[in-house]
Formats: sequence, C-alpha cells, structure tokens
Amino acid sequence: LAPLGSHALIPKAELHLHIEGTLEPELAFELAARNGITLPYADTEALRTAYLFADLQSFLDLYYALMAVLITEDDFEALADAYLARAAAQGVRHAEIFFDPQAHTARGVALGTVVEGLSRALARSQERHGVTTKLIMCFLRDQSAESAMETLEAAKPYLDRIVGVGLDSAEVGNPASKFREVYEAAGELGLRKVAHAGEEGDPGYVWEALDVLGVERVDHGLRSLEDPELVARLVRDRIPLTLCPMSNVRLRTIDVLEDHPLVAMMDAGLVCTVNSDDPAYFGGYAGDNFHAVGEALALDHERLRELARNSFVASFLDGSAEEEEL
Ligand code: ADE
Ligand code: ZN
Repeated sequence: LAPLGSHALIPKAELHLHIEGTLEPELAFELAARNGITLPYADTEALRTAYLFADLQSFLDLYYALMAVLITEDDFEALADAYLARAAAQGVRHAEIFFDPQAHTARGVALGTVVEGLSRALARSQERHGVTTKLIMCFLRDQSAESAMETLEAAKPYLDRIVGVGLDSAEVGNPASKFREVYEAAGELGLRKVAHAGEEGDPGYVWEALDVLGVERVDHGLRSLEDPELVARLVRDRIPLTLCPMSNVRLRTIDVLEDHPLVAMMDAGLVCTVNSDDPAYFGGYAGDNFHAVGEALALDHERLRELARNSFVASFLDGSAEEEEL
C-alpha cells in the first residue's frame, strides 16, 4: 500500500470490525508461545502465505483456527489494545467492535474471560488512544438457533458492556430467518440489532435481515444494487450499510477494487460507510480502506467526507459532537 494520505486519516468511526480479525501474525506467534501452543506454520511469513483466500469459507477456516492462541483475559486485552492503537493511527475516533462468543466458548474459553479481557482494553481506550468504543456480540449463523439463544442467555451478566447483537460466519445456506426468536429476545433486552447480509448471499438475505430480524444497520449489503426494490427500501428507511472494500477483494466477491459498487451505491442514495472487517487478514485497517477506495474509485474530497460523516451518523453514538467535528 502507498503511504497513508490525509484522506486516510480523516476522523471516522469504524462500524464493521471483528476483533478476532485483527490478530496479526506477530501477535499470534507471541500468544502461541505464551500459551504453549504450536501453530502449524514455521513463522509469521509462512502464516502470511496462507492469506490467499478463494472465498468467505476459506478465510473463516483460518480465522477460527488461529483463535486457538486466544486463551486468557490478558490475551483478549492485548488483542484489543493492539487494534485500538492501530485504529487510532488511522483516524478512527470511535469503534463498534464485533466479537464471536461461540468461537471461544466452543473451545472451552468462558464468555466472561473474553468480555472481561476485551473490556480492560476498551475501558482505557479513550484515554490511551482517543478512541471511544462499543461492543457488539455476534451469533455464528452456521451454528444452531438454540446455541445462539444459549449465548444470549450467557451474556446477561455482561449486558452493561454490550450494545448490540450481530450475525456473522458462513452466509449462504444460513438465512437470517433461523434467528428470528433470538433477535426478538435481544430486542426485549434493549440490545441494538445488526447482521451481515448480502456479502456472498443474494438480496433475499438482506430482505430477511430487515424484515425478519429488524436490523438497524446491514453489514456489507454489497449485493443490494441487484434489487431495485431493496435499494428503495434501504434508502427510504435510511438503513446504513457497512461496506468493507478490501475484504470484498480478498474474499473474491469482486475481482478488483476498481469494480467496487461504492460510488453507484452512494449515487443511489444509500447510506454507505467504509470499514475494514478483518484487517489483519485483508491487508488494511480503516484508513487503508479509505485510501484504497479513494485511489481506485478516484473519490473526491466531498465523497470521502460524506463517507466519514456517514460513519458517525450510522454509529450507535447518541451525541452529535463527532458529527459536528466534520
Ligand atoms: N466473520 C469474520 N469476518 C466475517 C465476514 N467478512 N463475513 C462473515 N463472517 C465473518
Ligand atoms: Zn464482517
């Protein structure tokens, strides 16, 4: 990547970021050594060569496997603190951070360990990095609805630390409708609702996220333009989309960044934001994504400002101080 230009550093909120996807190879090896785990890669370089993905599933296989190094509260704290430092250096002022409870509890790591560890880093973030934060727990859509409901139940002691629920993992074949009751229960607990939809899945997946789950924000929504009625609905209700351009290229949803529909989506009136998804795996953090789309799509200053402004408008912040800053 070229050095970050001033547009990359524009103050922004990051709304689509999986904390487990910020695990850089160096930290993975450090945590593996600390925890006495042997990774099936000789070194960080060998691990990086595995970052050539054919699709979402091939990425998810490595993403879940590498989580084996995350065991203690200290590990989760180190992971989040490293992300927040990098995000701050790329102009991120506010981050709404996803985590995948079931990916840890399935390995025998308690939900409390994950939340307490992440919370330690998040509690210091404003002071240390100048980044405010919120935490969103995601259900794995390739697991059962019962497992999601158990996860929601287990999260009850930590709801003071969790602003909302999301839905991620393998999309195609795992429609949102499976999680209707879980989202209803989450809503009754006062949690905000988002879900991944239209990343690899067709517009029907986005419709279900809206109509069955009642989400306030769609993660990705990349394929929305394929359905004009869906676009009209998203525009009418001002439902923000958290796009992740570098992720889309690395997961081969689009061939090259120059083909990204971001400009067409903005021109259609959609509330678009630009985010990094899993930056350790996809080659760039939030500022890198701004820089990359800025170059590939020749975005002018106004467009980049609009994307930055949208990120605060679409956030779960209630104050408008950050918006006024722009
Ligand atoms: N989990 C982490 N990153 C993801 C993505 N891009 N799509 C679905 N699930 C994910
Ligand atoms: Zn994602």
